[in-house]
Amino acid sequence: MSGGVYGGDEVGALVFDIGSFSVRAGYAGEDCPKADFPTTVGLLAAEEGGGLELEGDKEKKGKIFHIDTNALHVPRDGAEVMSPLKNGMIEDWECFRAILDHTYSKHVKSEPNLHPVLMSEAPWNTRPSPGRTDRLMFEQYNIPAFFLCKTAVLTAFANGRSTGLVLDSGATHTTAIPVHDGYVLQQGGERVRNPLAGISCRAGNSARKEPVREGAPPNWKKKEKLPQVSKSWHNYMCNEVIQDFQASVLQVSDSPYDEQVAAQMPTVHYEMPNGYNTDYGAERLRIPEGLFDPSNVKGLSGNTMLGVGHVVTTSIGMCDIDIRPGLYGSVIVTGGNTLLQGFTDRLNRELSQKTPPSMRLKLIASNSTMERKFSPWIGGSILASLGTFQQMWISKQEYEEGGKQCVERKCP
Ligand SMILES: Nc1ncnc2c1ncn2[C@@H]1O[C@H](COP(=O)(O)OP(=O)(O)OP(=O)(O)O)[C@@H](O)[C@H]1O
Ligand SMILES: [Mg+2]
Repeated sequence: MSGGVYGGDEVGALVFDIGSFSVRAGYAGEDCPKADFPTTVGLLAAEEGGGLELEGDKEKKGKIFHIDTNALHVPRDGAEVMSPLKNGMIEDWECFRAILDHTYSKHVKSEPNLHPVLMSEAPWNTRPSPGRTDRLMFEQYNIPAFFLCKTAVLTAFANGRSTGLVLDSGATHTTAIPVHDGYVLQQGGERVRNPLAGISCRAGNSARKEPVREGAPPNWKKKEKLPQVSKSWHNYMCNEVIQDFQASVLQVSDSPYDEQVAAQMPTVHYEMPNGYNTDYGAERLRIPEGLFDPSNVKGLSGNTMLGVGHVVTTSIGMCDIDIRPGLYGSVIVTGGNTLLQGFTDRLNRELSQKTPPSMRLKLIASNSTMERKFSPWIGGSILASLGTFQQMWISKQEYEEGGKQCVERKCP
């Protein structure tokens, strides 16, 4: 075998972490990604397009993609929204390419052929992988070197560990992935859909149905000649409001939900974009309770979904008994949802009750919002700039000689 070593430390390697919520991209060795924009893009058939041209508008084979927050937020007649990912895996390659093109031209502002690329992938992507990302990057973008790594492994690295149980609660899923010596243990992974999105949707809807409070008339007037926006675009924008509501109003109760405790909650005032505003009290605790106790989530009757604490213990329970102490000893908490107020306190409490007495529990949860949101990216940034990693890259030459087996062989 030849051409194994790629002198990747001479030019800046790029790190891409493309999650279901946002795209994170930037140079290895830096503290945080240069770009962080929605993975959701607007899509318009080209003949309907025309008119407004914004940065982020990309035309491709009769389709115009509206990429990045600003372009996506413009209401347009008939524009649908879509995501290249489904269940965290790439499904729409044309859309995925449009996102990469945008990242290179507007954020990285450099040519793809100059930079090695380290890309994250969903932990449940098993080997042999379909091998399409490496093909795309080498054949279409002509990159000099490539590496693919599971988000859970990168998060562990970002927290200075190579072994631990990575609990990631992101936009669509909450997962607990055991990582041992830098490898994902496939037998142990546990994954549930996030109940929160649905719950908060309902909160938003009921809020909309209620009349505007007396004494607080809406101080807005509907614009005339509004574009006929699609349902998917409308829903996306509603979700953005709900996400803001989630971050500003909700709080995880530190013990299982109790009506009386909830009634004592200090209220928080929140105003929806249509002017509806009120003080939220008990709802602040009730809505996020579904994360830890899905049994009372409406609409999921008879569900067998696990709460966050259970996801962790079930995942560890599926692993070899010898490595369980190492996993309980480093439960790494990451993902945007874990930023909900009170999340780690509740998790700590639940896990303390469930940890076998023979084992020591340690929760590792960075206090920095950035580290919690960007941990896979930060782990990639650290890994790709390590001197010892440089021999790990799959160089273009190696790829051309060895084809897709390189990824199976070299990437964990
Ligand atoms: N401060 C905050 N408080 C509460 N929730 C937040 C906060 N910041 C972000 N979130 C939520 O976190 C979610 C995004 O998490 P994250 O960035 O980890 O997702 P992702 O990695 O793109 O998606 P996934 O891991 O599901 O593929 C969104 O639903 C967002 O509303
Ligand atoms: Mg994620």
